[in-house]
Amino acid sequence: MEHVAIIMDGNGRWAEARGLTRSDGHKAGADNISRIADAARELGLKYLTLYAFSTENWKRPPAEVACLMGLISEITEKRLPDMMKNNIRLRTIGRTSDLPLLARKSLLKCIDETKNNTGLTINIALSYGGRAEIVDAVNKILAEKKTGDKIDEKEFINYLYAPDIPDPDLLIRTSGELRLSNFLLWELSYSEIYVTDTHWPDFDKEALQKAIDSFGKRKRRFGGLNK
Ligand code: FPP
Repeated sequence: MEHVAIIMDGNGRWAEARGLTRSDGHKAGADNISRIADAARELGLKYLTLYAFSTENWKRPPAEVACLMGLISEITEKRLPDMMKNNIRLRTIGRTSDLPLLARKSLLKCIDETKNNTGLTINIALSYGGRAEIVDAVNKILAEKKTGDKIDEKEFINYLYAPDIPDPDLLIRTSGELRLSNFLLWELSYSEIYVTDTHWPDFDKEALQKAIDSFGKRKRRFGGLNK
């Protein structure tokens, strides 16, 4: 097990249950990213991909979008020293050029400063959509290849956002919904899926360990015969 991907759902419901605002929920959700990053490191994971903002999330009320954008710069700046100390590398996937300048600047700085770190890679999906990723790949191919040559799956992967990152072994979704919500459509083809009713701000190291333990009990066949 080296790569866990997480759909961090339920900040709103977590806040509502406590009589707090949705922004409070997102703030608690953002704080939980560092806790789960620590846990992932301690559990020996190499990659943690987090769905933080989808291409569809732009349709949320402007104040909520602004809160999420503000959190991007806040947590990347606040957490940079810890990331250096803990040998964590930050990456992003998605149409990040859509993000506001301030968020982009903080992200670029953090990505650049952590680029030689060799421990856990945190890969944050921002303005990300699985369909958008595939369409972006096709457009890169069209722009690059003037001939009508066919390509195979192996070559196609090189045009996705993070070709060097192996596919997730496990997808975790918090807050109970049983859907992919346009996350990593290509990369999740053979991943195991684990859904918990726990809302993201309450998802802790023990919960992560439980998800990983459940993965350990399954047999992955990749469409082939049982081994
Ligand atoms: C789902 O809660 C959460 C998101 C929209 C994305 C996850 C965001 C964070 C963890 C906060 C940090 C953010 C960034 C961008 C670094 P929801 O609002 O869908 O909850 P609900 O379904 O209960 O309403």
